[in-house]
Amino acid sequence: MKVLEAPFVQGFMRMADDGWQQGWHERNGGNLSYRIKHEEIESVREDLKASGEWEPIGTVVPALAEEYFLVTGSGKYFRNVQRDPEDSICIIELDSAGERYRILWGLANGGRPTSELPSHLMNLEVKKKQNEEYRVVYHCHATNIIALTFVLPLQDEVFTRELWEMATECPVVFPDGVGVVEWMVPGGRRIAEATSRLMERYDVAIWAHHGMFCAGKDFDLTFGLAHTVEKAAEILVKMLSMRPDKRQTISPDNFRDLAADFHVTLPERFLYEKR
Ligand code: 13P
Ligand code: ZN
Repeated sequence: MKVLEAPFVQGFMRMADDGWQQGWHERNGGNLSYRIKHEEIESVREDLKASGEWEPIGTVVPALAEEYFLVTGSGKYFRNVQRDPEDSICIIELDSAGERYRILWGLANGGRPTSELPSHLMNLEVKKKQNEEYRVVYHCHATNIIALTFVLPLQDEVFTRELWEMATECPVVFPDGVGVVEWMVPGGRRIAEATSRLMERYDVAIWAHHGMFCAGKDFDLTFGLAHTVEKAAEILVKMLSMRPDKRQTISPDNFRDLAADFHVTLPERFLYEKR
């Protein structure tokens, strides 16, 4: 099969376009990666060709050695992924040490995988160790989440609780909460390490004044997670724009009742009493 005919590639392109339509990907903002299944890579094997040299990833991910990934290119626009996928995205394979990658398809006019490849691969490695079914990592510049990083304390507990309060379904969609990374220079190993540490606890990591990272088992779940978090952030921005306090809200006991009925565990550290 041709790469562009494969369902996992179609799903990847659809998700990229969905993110673009939401307005989360100005210019080349954001990036997406997918850990390809064995049978999926075999289905497109005839269309793969090692074109370039092995290049350093910029970090080490031994648990992902010799695996294959579909990733967006650095400097490429989500706006163009569906229209010109061969220019915008690529399939890479990792070497036996999990230290280097090479391109097997895509980036037809040159280029390299996203500058956030270290974060994507370190997050995918953490998630794979927890649960083999995790395959997608998504970074977007979601407007309202970014806005909140200027006014809320950069604490996991505060972000989680404030987002949960904005929509009843939130604690059901992300019961583990969200983590927050203080402002850091993007694109390197340091921010990748900080993000992957949060991914040990959460499926969502918010980068202060930059955007968010989400991890999930498939494109629907991962996009749906980012969408839910950003929707809650939008409601919070609207609420804070109307008045600085809440007249009424969902209480800690309400969350405990919800947890019991929806069979989710909500960590008590997010259900603190507010002063
Ligand atoms: P890339 O174009 O290298 O993927 O970078 C975009 C981005 O959002 C960096 O955080
Ligand atoms: Zn970014």
